[in-house]
Amino acid sequence: MRIRRAHPKDLRAIKEIDPMAKRRGHLLKQALQERGLFVLVEKERLLAFAILRRGFFERFFLELLLVHPDHRREGWGTRLIERMEKLAEAKGELWTSTNQSNRTMKRLLHARGYRQAGKIIGLDEGDPELFFVKALR
Ligand SMILES: CC(C)(COP(=O)(O)OP(=O)(O)OC[C@H]1O[C@@H](n2cnc3c(N)ncnc32)[C@H](O)[C@@H]1OP(=O)(O)O)[C@@H](O)C(=O)NCCC(=O)NCCS
Repeated sequence: MRIRRAHPKDLRAIKEIDPMAKRRGHLLKQALQERGLFVLVEKERLLAFAILRRGFFERFFLELLLVHPDHRREGWGTRLIERMEKLAEAKGELWTSTNQSNRTMKRLLHARGYRQAGKIIGLDEGDPELFFVKALR
């Protein structure tokens, strides 16, 4: 298993595992340019990717974490978020957010020691965005 920064040629495999990739095209390209797009590769197959940005009140912000639909609950999401936490360690905390309806991500975050830090209503109709933070030191 290898986690590395994405190359432009990874976008194709990313699009294959992310049903929303078309809508996220701009975000993915921007993250790639900013060197904030990371991929997890196992036996030469891209199994997961993450977007880590620095522009959130000068903090690290995990904008997206996505695992191949056929390989969920195998621990890949945990491996990738662990690495993002390592990268954010120097700043002492990692922030992220997810929809209130996303029980899976909320479980993962609680299991990893994140605490809820806020809620924004109105981004997605009827589904508030919950913000979480984990202290890394
Ligand atoms: C959320 C997501 C990244 C989790 O990745 P994953 O590789 O399946 O997660 P892991 O196997 O590392 O699981 C870690 C923990 O998360 C929780 N979890 C993961 N999948 C779960 C599920 N289907 N039901 C309940 N809890 C779940 C559990 O606490 C799990 O630990 P456990 O297996 O020891 O009980 C994955 O489901 C995904 O890609 N979802 C779609 C994209 C998304 O919603 N991303 C989050 C918003 S940015």
